[in-house]
Amino acid sequence: MNKTILITGAGSGIGLDAAWALAERGHRVIATTFDEAQAQALRAQAQARRVRLEVFKLDITAAADRQQVLGLELDVLINNAGVGESGSLAEVAVDRIRAVFEVNVFATLELTQLALRGMIARRRGTVLFVSSIAGRVPMPFLMPYSMSKFALSAAGAGLRAELRQLDCNVQVALIEPGAIHTGFNQAMTDRKYAWMGPQSYFAAQVPRLKSQEARTFRLLEARDTSSIVAQIVKASEARRPRLRYVAPWLQGFGVRLARILGV
Ligand SMILES: NC(=O)c1ccc[n+]([C@@H]2O[C@H](COP(=O)([O-])OP(=O)(O)OC[C@H]3O[C@@H](n4cnc5c(N)ncnc54)[C@H](OP(=O)(O)O)[C@@H]3O)[C@@H](O)[C@H]2O)c1
Repeated sequence: MNKTILITGAGSGIGLDAAWALAERGHRVIATTFDEAQAQALRAQAQARRVRLEVFKLDITAAADRQQVLGLELDVLINNAGVGESGSLAEVAVDRIRAVFEVNVFATLELTQLALRGMIARRRGTVLFVSSIAGRVPMPFLMPYSMSKFALSAAGAGLRAELRQLDCNVQVALIEPGAIHTGFNQAMTDRKYAWMGPQSYFAAQVPRLKSQEARTFRLLEARDTSSIVAQIVKASEARRPRLRYVAPWLQGFGVRLARILGV
C-alpha cells in the first residue's frame, strides 16, 4: 500500500537518501528541508531525476513551519532532522547542550504531537524517530549530542508504550544509525575546537583527540547510507514495526555487546 510519508531534514544525508528510496517505491513523499535554498535545490534534483517529491521548507524549531503538518494526512512521520555538538561535559557551555536538545528532542516532539493529532483521529499512522547508537552508549566528547539521542530514544520507547494504551493503531519506532559517512560526524567532532582554547582542561590532548577521532570515523563509518535507508523503508512499510531498527548490523552488534559488558 502506498503511504504518505513526511521526512524532516531531507535536504542532505540519510533523510535525502531515504526520500529517494521511498519515492522510488511508489510512496507519496513529502521531503522537508531546513531552509528554502535546500528546498529549491531538492525540487530541481527531483525534476532532473524524474522522481515525484513534494518539497517544502520545514525548520522544525519554527512553530509556524510546524503548523504545515496539520493540513496533511500523514501515514508516516520520519523525524530525521538533527544537529550535533561536541566537547567535554566538564566545560562545554550548557547553552550549547540546550540548543541541541531544542532541535533533537523538543522541536521533534512538538512536530510529532501535531502529526499525532491526525493519526490518532484517523486511527492509523507511524512515527519514526531517527535516534542513534549514540543514544544507547555514552560517547565521550560527544555527550551533548549523545545525551539528546538518549532522551530521544527514551521518548520514542515511552510514547510507543503510551499509545498502545489507546489502542489507536499508531505505531512508534526508533531508527538507530551507527556511524555513517554523511559529513555529520566530522562537523560535529570539529565544533568543539572552535571554542576549546588554551584554557580548556583538555588543551594538551587536542592533537591526540583529533587524530583519534579521524581514525575512529575512518575505520567505523559506513561509506554510504544504504543500510540505514533500508531499515527506514522497512520500518515505514511495516504494519507493526518493532521498537528498534539498527544499521549497519556490525555496529548494532557492537552496541549490544558494550551494553552486556556494562560499558
Ligand atoms: N551520520 C551518522 O553517522 C549518524 C549516526 C547516527 C544518527 N544520525 C542521525 O541521522 C539524522 C540525519 O543525519 P545525517 O548524517 O544525514 O546528517 P545531515 O546530512 O546533517 O542531516 C541532518 C539534516 O537535518 C537538517 N536540520 C538541522 N536542523 C534542522 C531543523 N531545525 N529543522 C529541519 N531540519 C534541520 C540539516 O540541515 P542543514 O544541513 O542545513 O544543517 C540536515 O539536512 C540526524 O538526526 C542524525 O543525528 C546520523
